[in-house]
Amino acid sequence: MKLWQGRQSGEGAKVAEDFNSSVRFDSRMYREDIQGSMAHAAMLGAQGIIDPTEAQKIIEALAGILDDIDSGTLEIDRESEDIHSFVEGELTRRIGDAGKRLHTARSRNDQVALDLRMYLRGRCRELLGLLSGLIGAVVDKAEENRGAIAPGYTHMQRAQPISFAHHLLAYAFMFERDAGRLRDAIKRMNLSPLGSCALAGTTYPTDRSSVASTLGFDGITLNSIDGVSDRDFCLEIMSALSILMMHLSRFSEEIVLWSSWEFRFVELDDDYTTGSSIMPQKKNPDMAELVRGKTGRVYGDLVALLVTMKGLPLAYNKDMQEDKEAVFDCVDTASDCLKVFTPMVETMRTHPENMRRAASAGFINATDLADYLTRKGMPFRDAYRLVGSLVAKCIESGKTLETLTLDEYRAESELFDEDVYTEINLENCVERRISAGGTGSNSIENQIHTLRRALLEWDGE
Ligand code: ARG
Repeated sequence: MKLWQGRQSGEGAKVAEDFNSSVRFDSRMYREDIQGSMAHAAMLGAQGIIDPTEAQKIIEALAGILDDIDSGTLEIDRESEDIHSFVEGELTRRIGDAGKRLHTARSRNDQVALDLRMYLRGRCRELLGLLSGLIGAVVDKAEENRGAIAPGYTHMQRAQPISFAHHLLAYAFMFERDAGRLRDAIKRMNLSPLGSCALAGTTYPTDRSSVASTLGFDGITLNSIDGVSDRDFCLEIMSALSILMMHLSRFSEEIVLWSSWEFRFVELDDDYTTGSSIMPQKKNPDMAELVRGKTGRVYGDLVALLVTMKGLPLAYNKDMQEDKEAVFDCVDTASDCLKVFTPMVETMRTHPENMRRAASAGFINATDLADYLTRKGMPFRDAYRLVGSLVAKCIESGKTLETLTLDEYRAESELFDEDVYTEINLENCVERRISAGGTGSNSIENQIHTLRRALLEWDGE
């Protein structure tokens, strides 16, 4: 028997019934569904919409159902239409007519919107916890590598020397903004749509605000059509997670590169790599590659729901049942990625000596040499040209800026002095980047401090 069996008579075609059913993926919201129903029943009783003793009976029976599902004594019937029908059906089976009164002043349209908001609110908080762990791990790794001089790249060409910590901290700030986007999404999502009913509200004297505050919402949605029609809260989370995945994916790509024999900047712990079935020397960075790969899947989830929603007239349409598999997959995938990525970073060993070696070749201090001449009075554009031609000469003669003799320097310009060698020393080049947010050590300390403080404030929220 269907919840809606009134106008329709027969049982309907099995193939259509299976096609219509969402219980195999919405049953994960059973807790939120039951909590929402308990709060709704309490309100119906308090407002005198149903008999308060019947409301109490409903609440107790719902608590029993929740316990039984939790303990595994009650199995969710996979033949149900959805989790809402299952819970209501079970309630009525347990307490008869009182159970049938629960759905007064409510519809599955506002019920599903409520359940989804509650469920996703919990998952977003969990994701925030995982993100905080990741940021902490990246900051720790940066702190450990404060003294490591590495090449900084643009166009994947060695550009300027940086502290490896600076490079890692760039990701920590990206993750901090990802967390901010999730927090914003939670804030906008945390309004209760329950009581919007099918689309137009109800004739009963409900108290939506009390239900909302019982369920931990900050308030109620103020337009009943909006309350049941939009899934922008799912899309916001999915957008925020897509951006997070983009960051994880770029980081993964670098970890793959850095752990190659060509770089050897880092070495992943054995636990986060796999071997090859044929090449005994291999240590493959599968986890990083999978995180990079799963990014496409998360984008796919976002795009799927955007496309599902784009042509829908208001209010509820069954197309919207497609929201759940997409948003659940998105949240599950991002959460799985964070759970493996954080310990992978924590256990990753770094090889500063290899970074330093890579930074020593490739004329990475050419900008510093030009700045040196500029400080001595040469216009920057002229200094730039002179250093460019010096680099070309070095390449021809197999020298580096460090191995040119002072005479060779002075042949180009009288402005060169003995101090040129300390000026182009890589450690000095990094340390002299004193601008706010630069790679100099004061800035690194400041970044670490700022991120740690943000994490503390965030834990206190
Ligand atoms: N399973 C449905 C969904 O996920 C629940 C809402 C059904 N509402 C309706 N009027 N058929 O969207």
